[in-house]
Amino acid sequence: MSRICVVGAGYVGLVTGACLAELGHDVVCLDIDHEKIAALRAGRVPFYEPGLAELLDTMRSRGRIAFSDRYDEAVPSAAFVFITVNTPTGAEGQADLEAVRNAVRDLAAVLSPHAVIVNKSTVPIGTGDLVEYLARRYTSVPFSVVSNPEFLREGSAIADFRSPDRIVLGSRNRAAAEAVLALYEPVRCPVLITDIRTAEMIKYASNAFLATRISFINEIAAICERLGADVTEVARGMGFDHRIGAEFLEAGLGWGGSCFPKDVRALIHMAATSGTHPQLLRAVLEINRDQRLALVQKLHTALGSLEDRTIAVLGLSFKPNTDDLRNSPAIELIDLLYYEGCQVRAYDPVAMPRARPLLPASARLCATPYEAVAGADAVVIATAWQEFRELDLARLRAALRVPVIIDGRNCLDPAATRAAGFVYLGVGRGSGQPLAATLPRAEPREADEPDTAILGRDGWTR
Ligand code: UGA
Repeated sequence: MSRICVVGAGYVGLVTGACLAELGHDVVCLDIDHEKIAALRAGRVPFYEPGLAELLDTMRSRGRIAFSDRYDEAVPSAAFVFITVNTPTGAEGQADLEAVRNAVRDLAAVLSPHAVIVNKSTVPIGTGDLVEYLARRYTSVPFSVVSNPEFLREGSAIADFRSPDRIVLGSRNRAAAEAVLALYEPVRCPVLITDIRTAEMIKYASNAFLATRISFINEIAAICERLGADVTEVARGMGFDHRIGAEFLEAGLGWGGSCFPKDVRALIHMAATSGTHPQLLRAVLEINRDQRLALVQKLHTALGSLEDRTIAVLGLSFKPNTDDLRNSPAIELIDLLYYEGCQVRAYDPVAMPRARPLLPASARLCATPYEAVAGADAVVIATAWQEFRELDLARLRAALRVPVIIDGRNCLDPAATRAAGFVYLGVGRGSGQPLAATLPRAEPREADEPDTAILGRDGWTR
């Protein structure tokens, strides 16, 4: 059993703290946000992560986890100090290290001799060296630095911690890396002990690769759409190849969240400032941005002009099972719809309380998906919540003014949805023929008849 301080009580910090406590360690989660610490002490978790509130409660009742807003209270008795503060995107796409610098300054001043500083925040290559250099300025006690990147997915972070695909540790001091590894006992998985810079790069390269897979399948989806193939089947067929694998090949509105956009941009920035030409990564970003535009284009194809149209958007969080709205494709889509002159009615199972300040004032938040679609000209599925896969299509059809479904996450069965009387457009889901030959027509307003001129102007094959 070790005494551990986790600096930064955000997603990564609280999940790491709770799970290390579950493994039997004594944990203090530290944050300079006094209100957040007061809320955590009162048993309130500031965001939605399945199982986390319950695990924190259990650990607190067993006396395994405590919360503090003071470095001099939380750090001196800790043998391991984890840094899990946020590293937002700076003005030029680089990771902003201010929170890391401040944390290192404040923890180093009260560090116990031989403590290990473990960096879990996603930081630019070389930050481990910077942490060592900075900490040395504020303390004279001996210490070690270990980079231990996290690979936790929001929505399944606790499960990911309990059974990780791998543990990566980077350090100049192998004994320190092994001591950090011992904290994870009895977790079993492949372990890689390497140097700090390589460990830091593994994190960026992993996220950039996953984002690349998604942008790749989205590019394939665009081609499928033109040529009449179904990308969901294409992805299945590809996924059986063990060299490719089945995951992260879901075409749709694209990726968002607090990690991929920030990390891909930061890697591009690191590449460019170190004199290389990150052309693939730039294309990955560009394809992702275009996914939102392509969805608006589909609405145009189905409805003609979007001016004064009412569009129901189902799903606001950046992915299902979280209320996180950071860089959410759904929110970016709503911005585009707003600039097209649309009225937006939106619904999300958990993210609505946090969504209001991010949406145009005219956007209406609704209590159910059926309320959201009432009187709408089209419905867009923007986040793949399970609830949307189980929608009552007849009820939906009765509530919509124009029965158009743009399935931005390929949640629904195209044939069943069309059979229920909808104009259905997914992402990359051809039906064996080029799209223009098969595109069913919505009931457009007279002035907006989506004639072949619209199809032609926008580049669809006639
Ligand atoms: C991601 C990584 O998956 C984690 O391994 C990593 O630890 C984390 O970032 C991080 O750096 O902290 P997360 O941001 O929680 O985790 O979300 P993902 O599950 O990776 O999804 C990212 C985005 O890609 C979502 O918007 C999701 O809807 C989208 N996505 C995912 C697709 O569009 N298609 C797919 O096939 C998979």
